[in-house]
Amino acid sequence: MKRSLSLEEKEKLETIYYSYLNNPLIDRMKDVSMHRGSNCYIHSFLVAKLAIKRALKKKKELDLESILIASILHDYYLYDWRSDRSLLKHHGSRHPSIAVSNAKRDFDISDKVANLILSHMWPINFKCFPKTTEARIVCNADTWIALKEFLCSKVYKAKRVQKRQSMISELF
Ligand SMILES: [Fe+2]
Ligand SMILES: [Fe+2]
Repeated sequence: MKRSLSLEEKEKLETIYYSYLNNPLIDRMKDVSMHRGSNCYIHSFLVAKLAIKRALKKKKELDLESILIASILHDYYLYDWRSDRSLLKHHGSRHPSIAVSNAKRDFDISDKVANLILSHMWPINFKCFPKTTEARIVCNADTWIALKEFLCSKVYKAKRVQKRQSMISELF
């Protein structure tokens, strides 16, 4: 069963989404390369779209705003380990807490959002188990999008980036 949103709820989520999508601070994620056919900016908005889609399929009423913000900021670590391999060590387990401190510095995020970001790398970050439905949705949406990006052929990378860029232009 899909939960339907009121016009007011939909508009509120869209306002949040576009405020991040068109934010110069968030634009910096475009310079962070990701898996094939993506960058950190595109990756994060794709995760946000999928997480909201999945959250709306749940019977339980979830905190959609926190899911949305945490998904957008889950990889807000702002460094590119692919261009500086020295940053690769412990990247998998450390980047969620770096993303949280950057997000706290640049945006007014709640503790709930911070916790959702911290648990998105489970089980790599084994101590941060995603305890809530919201946390599991963000973690699973990230894994699914990362897998799709990873499996993308190198040959079509430019085309994929273009396609994915157009996919994130709207939340719904
Ligand atoms: Fe991540
Ligand atoms: Fe991610």
